[in-house]
Amino acid sequence: MEKHIYPIFDRLLQRGAKEKMIGQHSKALWFTGLSGSGKSTVAENLEARLHANGFLTQVLDGDNIRNGLNSNLTFAPEDRVENIRRISEVTKLFVHCGIITLNSFISPTVEMRQMAKDIIGEDNFVEVFINASLESCEARDVKGLYAKARSGEIKGFTGIDAPYEAPPAPAIELRTDQMSIEETVDKLYNYILPLIKSE
Ligand code: ADX
Repeated sequence: MEKHIYPIFDRLLQRGAKEKMIGQHSKALWFTGLSGSGKSTVAENLEARLHANGFLTQVLDGDNIRNGLNSNLTFAPEDRVENIRRISEVTKLFVHCGIITLNSFISPTVEMRQMAKDIIGEDNFVEVFINASLESCEARDVKGLYAKARSGEIKGFTGIDAPYEAPPAPAIELRTDQMSIEETVDKLYNYILPLIKSE
């Protein structure tokens, strides 16, 4: 069906002009990992570090976005895809505005993350695998959700009765169950700095 939609992307101010104004190159840092693996903690601490060093960022986080923009979505597989699709479109707008995004979503399947990469653009997309064993996430159980998943109160919980597919080739992998938060953020900051700093 014809949609009668006429995008005007070609007439919009170029991204490069905005990046130059802010003095950075934008990227989308896509944090994937189990619930409780530390995605949001790493994103928040990295954001503070980037801010202190003069970079403009935006954190986009599953728990927050699912309260607002995506409040009508469940954790059924098709809704998780829609969650990631919408957030990827939002991310694309930020990246085209020159802003570095820190995306913290379980995004449990390879296919879902490929969709995010396709929407955001391969050159803009940096996949960050926040890797902590299920045992360590469950042992900490910060939100008490693993206990609820084990008792059957929550159905379809990632890692318990819904799948998590680890990324086969992430740009960077961070073992948050083996490193301190300081070490983790240092490692990630040093990795991304050359990608975002303007000459
Ligand atoms: S995603 O799978 O669609 O990418 P998202 O990152 O937005 O997930 O949300 C994950 C957060 O929602 C978890 O950290 C947890 O707090 C909460 N949550 C509630 N129900 C579930 C569930 N069934 N599976 C995973 N996380 C859940």
